[in-house]
Amino acid sequence: MRGVLSEYLSKDHDRLDALLTRSTATPGIIDMESYSQFRKGILRHISMEEKIVLPAITRWQGGRKAALAERLRLDHGAIVSLLVPPPTESIVLTLRSIFAVHNPLEEQKGGLYELLDSMAGTETEKVLRELQSGPRLRYCPTTRNPMQSKQPGLPLRERATNFINCRRGR
Ligand SMILES: [Fe+2]
Ligand SMILES: [Fe+2]
Repeated sequence: MRGVLSEYLSKDHDRLDALLTRSTATPGIIDMESYSQFRKGILRHISMEEKIVLPAITRWQGGRKAALAERLRLDHGAIVSLLVPPPTESIVLTLRSIFAVHNPLEEQKGGLYELLDSMAGTETEKVLRELQSGPRLRYCPTTRNPMQSKQPGLPLRERATNFINCRRGR
Protein backbone atom coordinates (compact mmCIF):
# COMPACT_ATOMS: atom_id res chain seq x y z
CA MET A 1 0.00 0.00 0.00
CA ARG A 2 1.21 3.48 -0.86
CA GLY A 3 2.05 5.89 1.94
CA VAL A 4 0.50 9.33 2.11
CA LEU A 5 3.44 11.10 0.44
CA SER A 6 3.48 8.66 -2.50
CA GLU A 7 -0.26 9.03 -2.75
CA TYR A 8 -0.10 12.82 -2.85
CA LEU A 9 2.64 12.95 -5.53
CA SER A 10 1.23 10.09 -7.65
CA LYS A 11 -2.21 11.73 -7.69
CA ASP A 12 -0.52 14.92 -8.87
CA HIS A 13 0.97 12.91 -11.81
CA ASP A 14 -2.57 11.70 -12.66
CA ARG A 15 -4.00 15.21 -12.47
CA LEU A 16 -1.23 16.57 -14.73
CA ASP A 17 -1.65 13.71 -17.22
CA ALA A 18 -5.37 14.48 -17.43
CA LEU A 19 -4.69 18.19 -18.07
CA LEU A 20 -2.18 17.37 -20.82
CA THR A 21 -4.65 14.94 -22.40
CA ARG A 22 -7.39 17.56 -22.24
CA SER A 23 -5.12 20.16 -23.84
CA THR A 24 -4.79 18.01 -26.99
CA ALA A 25 -8.27 16.45 -27.00
CA THR A 26 -9.13 18.12 -30.32
CA PRO A 27 -6.71 17.03 -33.08
CA GLY A 28 -4.69 19.93 -34.47
CA ILE A 29 -5.62 22.30 -31.64
CA ILE A 30 -3.96 22.93 -28.30
CA ASP A 31 -6.41 24.09 -25.66
CA MET A 32 -4.32 26.80 -24.02
CA GLU A 33 -6.41 26.97 -20.87
CA SER A 34 -5.75 23.30 -20.06
CA TYR A 35 -2.14 23.55 -21.22
CA SER A 36 -1.42 26.54 -19.03
CA GLN A 37 -2.90 24.75 -15.99
CA PHE A 38 -0.73 21.75 -16.88
CA ARG A 39 2.35 23.98 -17.27
CA LYS A 40 1.91 25.68 -13.90
CA GLY A 41 1.16 22.33 -12.31
CA ILE A 42 4.19 20.51 -13.68
CA LEU A 43 6.53 23.38 -12.73
CA ARG A 44 5.13 23.25 -9.19
CA HIS A 45 5.44 19.44 -9.16
CA ILE A 46 9.07 19.50 -10.28
CA SER A 47 9.81 22.19 -7.70
CA MET A 48 8.30 20.02 -4.96
CA GLU A 49 10.61 17.18 -5.99
CA GLU A 50 13.71 19.36 -6.44
CA LYS A 51 13.23 21.61 -3.41
CA ILE A 52 11.48 19.35 -0.88
CA VAL A 53 11.67 15.63 -1.77
CA LEU A 54 15.26 15.21 -2.99
CA PRO A 55 16.83 17.47 -0.31
CA ALA A 56 14.85 15.67 2.45
CA ILE A 57 16.09 12.25 1.26
CA THR A 58 19.68 13.56 1.08
CA ARG A 59 19.33 14.87 4.66
CA TRP A 60 17.83 11.60 5.98
CA GLN A 61 20.63 9.64 4.28
CA GLY A 62 23.27 11.71 6.05
CA GLY A 63 24.23 13.71 2.96
CA ARG A 64 24.01 10.87 0.41
CA LYS A 65 21.72 11.64 -2.53
CA ALA A 66 19.00 9.24 -3.65
CA ALA A 67 20.45 6.85 -6.23
CA LEU A 68 17.92 8.09 -8.79
CA ALA A 69 18.47 11.79 -8.08
CA GLU A 70 20.76 12.66 -10.99
CA ARG A 71 18.69 10.75 -13.51
CA LEU A 72 15.47 12.40 -12.32
CA ARG A 73 17.08 15.84 -12.35
CA LEU A 74 18.20 15.39 -15.95
CA ASP A 75 14.62 14.51 -16.88
CA HIS A 76 13.32 17.54 -14.96
CA GLY A 77 15.72 19.76 -16.90
CA ALA A 78 14.50 18.28 -20.20
CA ILE A 79 10.83 18.69 -19.18
CA VAL A 80 11.31 22.32 -18.13
CA SER A 81 13.19 23.16 -21.35
CA LEU A 82 10.16 21.90 -23.30
CA LEU A 83 7.92 24.31 -21.35
CA VAL A 84 9.87 27.38 -22.50
CA PRO A 85 8.55 27.79 -26.07
CA PRO A 86 4.84 27.97 -26.88
CA PRO A 87 3.43 24.40 -27.06
CA THR A 88 3.15 22.40 -30.28
CA GLU A 89 1.82 18.90 -30.86
CA SER A 90 5.36 17.56 -31.14
CA ILE A 91 6.33 19.19 -27.82
CA VAL A 92 3.33 17.57 -26.14
CA LEU A 93 4.26 14.19 -27.68
CA THR A 94 7.84 14.55 -26.44
CA LEU A 95 6.63 15.48 -22.94
CA ARG A 96 4.44 12.38 -22.93
CA SER A 97 7.34 10.16 -23.97
CA ILE A 98 9.45 11.54 -21.09
CA PHE A 99 6.64 11.07 -18.55
CA ALA A 100 6.12 7.47 -19.75
CA VAL A 101 9.58 6.62 -18.44
CA HIS A 102 10.05 9.24 -15.72
CA ASN A 103 6.85 8.81 -13.71
CA PRO A 104 7.30 5.02 -13.21
CA LEU A 105 10.84 5.67 -11.88
CA GLU A 106 9.17 7.71 -9.15
CA GLU A 107 5.99 5.67 -8.59
CA GLN A 108 7.09 2.07 -9.00
CA LYS A 109 8.15 -0.30 -6.24
CA GLY A 110 11.63 0.72 -5.15
CA GLY A 111 11.18 4.13 -6.78
CA LEU A 112 11.67 7.62 -5.40
CA TYR A 113 8.27 7.94 -3.72
CA GLU A 114 8.57 4.62 -1.91
CA LEU A 115 11.97 5.72 -0.64
CA LEU A 116 10.42 9.02 0.49
CA ASP A 117 7.62 7.25 2.36
CA SER A 118 9.95 4.73 3.94
CA MET A 119 12.38 7.39 5.21
CA ALA A 120 9.96 10.13 6.27
CA GLY A 121 8.89 8.40 9.50
CA THR A 122 7.88 10.98 12.10
CA GLU A 123 8.39 13.79 9.56
CA THR A 124 5.65 12.45 7.26
CA GLU A 125 3.01 15.00 8.30
CA LYS A 126 5.50 17.87 8.15
CA VAL A 127 6.64 16.90 4.64
CA LEU A 128 3.03 16.46 3.51
CA ARG A 129 2.22 19.98 4.72
CA GLU A 130 5.28 21.33 2.89
CA LEU A 131 4.16 19.59 -0.31
CA GLN A 132 0.59 20.85 0.07
CA SER A 133 1.65 24.43 0.62
CA GLY A 134 4.22 23.93 -2.18
CA PRO A 135 7.25 26.01 -3.07
CA ARG A 136 6.28 29.57 -4.02
CA LEU A 137 6.99 30.11 -7.71
CA ARG A 138 6.97 33.00 -10.13
CA TYR A 139 5.99 31.49 -13.46
CA CYS A 140 8.00 32.61 -16.48
CA PRO A 141 5.78 32.98 -19.53
CA THR A 142 6.55 30.93 -22.64
CA THR A 143 8.99 32.57 -25.03
CA ARG A 144 9.88 32.04 -28.66
CA ASN A 145 13.53 32.73 -27.81
CA PRO A 146 14.88 29.43 -26.56
CA MET A 147 16.53 29.93 -23.18
CA GLN A 148 19.46 27.88 -24.46
CA SER A 149 20.61 30.78 -26.62
CA LYS A 150 20.53 33.20 -23.66
CA GLN A 151 22.44 30.91 -21.36
CA PRO A 152 24.72 28.88 -23.63
CA GLY A 153 27.31 28.06 -20.98
CA LEU A 154 24.93 26.82 -18.30
CA PRO A 155 24.20 23.13 -17.81
CA LEU A 156 20.63 22.10 -18.64
CA ARG A 157 19.70 21.51 -15.01
CA GLU A 158 20.87 24.97 -13.93
CA ARG A 159 19.07 26.60 -16.84
CA ALA A 160 15.95 24.72 -15.81
CA THR A 161 16.27 25.82 -12.18
CA ASN A 162 16.71 29.41 -13.31
CA PHE A 163 13.65 29.10 -15.51
CA ILE A 164 11.56 27.65 -12.68
CA ASN A 165 12.62 30.59 -10.53
CA CYS A 166 12.20 33.04 -13.41
CA ARG A 167 15.83 34.17 -13.31
CA ARG A 168 18.02 35.15 -16.22
CA GLY A 169 21.08 33.09 -15.36
CA ARG A 170 24.46 34.08 -14.01
FE1 LIG B 1 9.92 14.05 -11.29
FE1 LIG C 1 6.88 13.35 -10.10
